[in-house]
Amino acid sequence: MAEPEPLIAAIGAVASNGMLGLGGWLPWDIPEELAYFEATVAGAALVIGRLTYESMDVVPADSFIVSRRPDLQLRPGCRRVASVEEGLRMAQAVGKPVFVIGGASIYAAAWPYCRHFYLTRIEMAFAGDTQFPEEIPLASWTVVGEESRSYRERNSGQLVNCRFMKYEQACPRPLPGLERDSGRL
Ligand SMILES: NC(=O)c1ccc[n+]([C@@H]2O[C@H](COP(=O)([O-])OP(=O)(O)OC[C@H]3O[C@@H](n4cnc5c(N)ncnc54)[C@H](OP(=O)(O)O)[C@@H]3O)[C@@H](O)[C@H]2O)c1
Repeated sequence: MAEPEPLIAAIGAVASNGMLGLGGWLPWDIPEELAYFEATVAGAALVIGRLTYESMDVVPADSFIVSRRPDLQLRPGCRRVASVEEGLRMAQAVGKPVFVIGGASIYAAAWPYCRHFYLTRIEMAFAGDTQFPEEIPLASWTVVGEESRSYRERNSGQLVNCRFMKYEQACPRPLPGLERDSGRL
């Protein structure tokens, strides 16, 4: 019997005012939240928007970078994909769990295919320039995990509560055939 396709999940963090990015990075400085992200995606195949990729110091192997630029130069272990769907299909072919790690444009395109969304709700407002996509209907997904912890946000020095949510979508959309997404394959 054929192996089941690896599950697709997304992971991100959002402030209470909907912000998730500022100046090409995160609007907050909460090392423990970043450590949670790194631990959760460890060993997975990743699908990453080009701007988020460029903001990362370390990009693990089996990362698929979504970009319309055919000449994009990438670090070893990374491959360009021309669409989110192509990235998800190629990431699944690696055989590891698949995580979509943003940014906003990639969450907006990938959420229909995700079984899970790991979303840290940071219970403080932050200035930002990139918003979590409003169209993602997490309110209608099932909450299958929730844990709260408080950490000190380094820029403000304030304690901030982080709610680590795990949402589940009952019927993710099946991925379309790769041949429809890429003329190259
Ligand atoms: N809070 C969090 O959890 C979190 C997580 C990740 C990122 N972020 C933040 O989010 C911000 C970046 O988000 P963003 O939405 O501006 O950028 P992004 O999603 O990281 O990257 C956007 C780029 O991806 C490519 N792209 C997007 N949609 C595509 C499509 N349908 N087909 C082909 N290529 C596509 C394009 O690359 P080309 O221009 O090369 O064609 C586009 O310029 C940063 O501030 C980052 O730090 C926050």
